[in-house]
Amino acid sequence: MIDIHAHILPGVDDGSENMKMSLMMLSMCEDYGTKGIIATPHANIPGEFENYLGPDLLELMSALEEEKDLAGINVDIYRGMEIFATEDMPSLLEKGKLLTLNGTSYFLTEFAFGEDPDFCRKVLRECTAMGLKPIIAHPERYYFIQDDPRTAYDWCISGYGLQINKGSVMGAFGKRVQDTADLLISHGLAACVASDAHSHIERNTRMDRTAGYLARTYGEEFADLLLFKNPMRILEGKGLYGYEPIPVY
Ligand SMILES: [Fe+2]
Repeated sequence: MIDIHAHILPGVDDGSENMKMSLMMLSMCEDYGTKGIIATPHANIPGEFENYLGPDLLELMSALEEEKDLAGINVDIYRGMEIFATEDMPSLLEKGKLLTLNGTSYFLTEFAFGEDPDFCRKVLRECTAMGLKPIIAHPERYYFIQDDPRTAYDWCISGYGLQINKGSVMGAFGKRVQDTADLLISHGLAACVASDAHSHIERNTRMDRTAGYLARTYGEEFADLLLFKNPMRILEGKGLYGYEPIPVY
């Protein structure tokens, strides 16, 4: 498996608290079948987790990669961010203040849970006009998607990738989120499932149970698409695979 969304970078957001915890999260990947993981610290959350690209962040990313090698953990780490969508996100991406996923044209973005869908449409269009390709983090958790999943269908047919959280699939965020995740996956709107891990305890990097659940519920092939094939396409900057999306009403 390849995990495209994880807060494994230590001490920069509400994810891993220190290097020791980051290494435990990475060991868990190795133990449960995740071969590659993208470090996606929260970024561009004004006044909370800004994490704009600079020497400190780059140094920390290198330190994590080195410590992982020293610990002999056989997992590949890639660089990225989970970018909170603001009015100036497109210009910050253009200026190189924010990281895309593994240096590709894919970038991982999240919205405020109660965001105005018109704002999402506008800001995503500005990014695609620059040649960037959005991967939208956990759409099933947004109230405006739960209320009207047609927005998720529009995103999918616009070519945006929808990343579902493992916790949503497994019911950790409640039934409404779980039902929305199921709706998005069963209608062919999801591109991938990722851990969105924040520690080695709760919301961790372990993906094997989720893989089993997805295979039993949607079939082995679809589970492989969500957990390996599309995440690999994202790492390589290639087009996403998917089934014909079914409209939601
Ligand atoms: Fe996240």
